[in-house]
Amino acid sequence: MSLAKRFNLSLIVMYICSVLIAAPTIYFSTKSQVYSRAEANLVLLVDVVKSIQDFVATDLRPHFLKEKIFYSPSFSGIVATSRIAKYLKQKQPEFYISNVSDNPLSPANQARGIELELLNQFRENPSLKAINTAGRIDGQNYLVSSAPKISKKGCLRCHGDPAKAPNDVVENYGIESGYGYQSGKVVGVSVVGVPLEDIQRLTIERSLIVIGGITLLFALLFIVVNQLVRRLILVPIASITEQAKAVSKGDISRELPAVRRNDEIAELANAFELMRRSLLTAMKRMQRKS
Ligand code: HEC
Repeated sequence: MSLAKRFNLSLIVMYICSVLIAAPTIYFSTKSQVYSRAEANLVLLVDVVKSIQDFVATDLRPHFLKEKIFYSPSFSGIVATSRIAKYLKQKQPEFYISNVSDNPLSPANQARGIELELLNQFRENPSLKAINTAGRIDGQNYLVSSAPKISKKGCLRCHGDPAKAPNDVVENYGIESGYGYQSGKVVGVSVVGVPLEDIQRLTIERSLIVIGGITLLFALLFIVVNQLVRRLILVPIASITEQAKAVSKGDISRELPAVRRNDEIAELANAFELMRRSLLTAMKRMQRKS
């Protein structure tokens, strides 16, 4: 195999290796970046929701309880969260906050899909405090954090017997669904979700840019290396080979043009030319003697 071909072959092998290393590296780094960005947003959103519920529990509820006003948005953290979630949805539609149940007061809070799966998991395993997972909601990938909603005595004021529920609850939600809670039971789940960017699409976009760059670099390298190999190695060696063939056929009069460089090939060419000249003088001397 010629030298140029060997160089080209090793360049091609190096190119394929770079692409094979780049593609999975891009995939895994994109995936970890997408997840860590979503996790940071999720932690923030979960804390905002907790703060809303803390605010209702510590600043609002005791005051309204004293006044015996059971207005649900200022009494229940879940109701306050669901109202705030409604306003947030108008500003940040991609974020997902919900409190759902399979026995909801509001039909909009009916657990479905991944919410229902989470609800069942919390029912099967009552010691679970939270589940963080990735899943699809309304056709979009989300990273969600969910927690069980466990019924306590205070919840029964609104979710117990519908005949004893506050007027604003019965007026707004009727008496069909959302009642009959029992203390200590998992009655619903809270689900907070942040969208997960499309990892596959991002990977393809980034791969196209990086692999395009690698291809351009190797194409450039290919041209430069081929030029250098041709000029510095192949052409001078071909002329030395030609000269050697001529000498072997007895033609030692042709002079090898001097190579004005300072490398091994030049040394070989100059050494060859020196040998030819010595041979020429030796032959002339012999001719004179005979
Ligand atoms: C002051 C009345 C009141 C109290 C007390 C109350 N809730 Fe509710 N709850 C509501 C109302 C009203 C809704 C409907 C909110 C909406 O429209 O999204 C609701 C919604 C829910 C939902 C969402 C599903 C559904 O029914 O629409 C869950 C789950 C829930 N409450 C659990 C609880 C738990 C657990 C407690 C006790 C820790 C509790 N609630 C205490 C009034 C109350």
